[in-house]
Amino acid sequence: MKVLVIGGGGREHALCAAIRRSSRVRDLVCAPGNGGIASAARCVPASQKDLGDLLRVVNEEQPDLTVVGPEVPLALGLVDEMKRRGLPVFGPTREAAMLETSKAWARRFMQRHHIPAPNYAVCSSRQEALSALDLFHCPVVVKADGLAAGKGVVICERRQDAEQAIAGLFSGQLLGFAETSVIVEEHLAGEELSFLVLSDGKHATPLVPAQDHKRLGEGDTGPNTGGMGVYSTDSMLDPKMRDWILHHIAQPAIDGMAAEETPFVGVLYCGLMMTARGPMVLEFNARFGDPETQAILVRLDSDLLEALEACVEGRLSDTEFRWKPGASACVVAASEGYPGNYTAGRLITGLEAAAEVPNVQIFHAGTTLDDGQYRTSGGRVLGVTATGPDLRAALASAYEAIGRIHFEGMIYRRDIGHRALRR
Ligand code: AMP
Ligand code: GLY
Repeated sequence: MKVLVIGGGGREHALCAAIRRSSRVRDLVCAPGNGGIASAARCVPASQKDLGDLLRVVNEEQPDLTVVGPEVPLALGLVDEMKRRGLPVFGPTREAAMLETSKAWARRFMQRHHIPAPNYAVCSSRQEALSALDLFHCPVVVKADGLAAGKGVVICERRQDAEQAIAGLFSGQLLGFAETSVIVEEHLAGEELSFLVLSDGKHATPLVPAQDHKRLGEGDTGPNTGGMGVYSTDSMLDPKMRDWILHHIAQPAIDGMAAEETPFVGVLYCGLMMTARGPMVLEFNARFGDPETQAILVRLDSDLLEALEACVEGRLSDTEFRWKPGASACVVAASEGYPGNYTAGRLITGLEAAAEVPNVQIFHAGTTLDDGQYRTSGGRVLGVTATGPDLRAALASAYEAIGRIHFEGMIYRRDIGHRALRR
């Protein structure tokens, strides 16, 4: 069969590599892909922010299955348009994706369905948000309602910071566009956990858990990023807790969406805080995580394509998942300056030597391939990913491999997995 993957980051490289492993794939296309994805799929140019352009690719390629990676095409209604045309597609409709695209809508949904979440207030003016601040102690969290590419959340230690964040979001100073809705919410303390489930609209099947490292700097310091590294082990979540999260968070979300007649088909990413009061939802995403997917899919031992098709065809409960025991880790190599401005076009060397390290897979997030040479083209450039019998072994391989790679201005965190290693 012919499969089309939409997107062009590390997540899509990991998706393409996993789909490629299925014996049923005859043709794998990625739009737009990137320099590294080109070794796993045929890359075709496309603008991920242009619905018409994405539909053009779909029309030209006529895939048997399309898998949507990023959130923007979901928010544009790509899945709705494809369903209208009778084309099989993995991903939620625009309405179902509101679990991610509107944080206010998502918070109200959680409340309607008794899904554990922090206290919050949705505010539609600066004045309203300032009054809401009186109801919370600091630190307090101020969030933009809409998609903000990871830049819409401000953790405020002091009231003054919260007032500034509120003003910045409503005026447009913070994100470059003015928000019409801002959420003020209770700050939760604990460890974060990315808990992803696949769903066919009725049934939810969990993937292995992962922990992301969102801050740029070692020791979880510096600005928030899309994710600087991630690891996955079985021991990070005991089976009882996994079942609790499935039955009190993920499955109620899937059931709630079905009950509200916006069934959720795709992958529901539950961003959780493991608090003293139990797991609580920080956010839902309507897509695979990046870089979580890189660490999760290298542990998958069964056929990803089968599972994605089962979701689209509404028969996920019959699908068997097998996972490699042990651990995986992904260390992100980024361009100096990320998550702010950075220079692109830097020559990347050492990729072949890095790929020789046993149990390592290198996923490209932002690279181009010109004349046989890879160059940087993004803030996050590579996700150097390894598996191992335990976390220490997986990390040792990932760090051995990344140590062989070089580009000017390359930065990476040397402490991925530090919380787990300390335990
Ligand atoms: P979000 O996009 O909502 O997941 O927020 C991005 C990051 O901000 C999360 O991964 C957390 O690290 C942090 N965050 C968001 N909401 C809260 C909260 N209520 N309490 C503490 N940290 C939060
Ligand atoms: N790694 C965080 C995310 O995908 O949203």
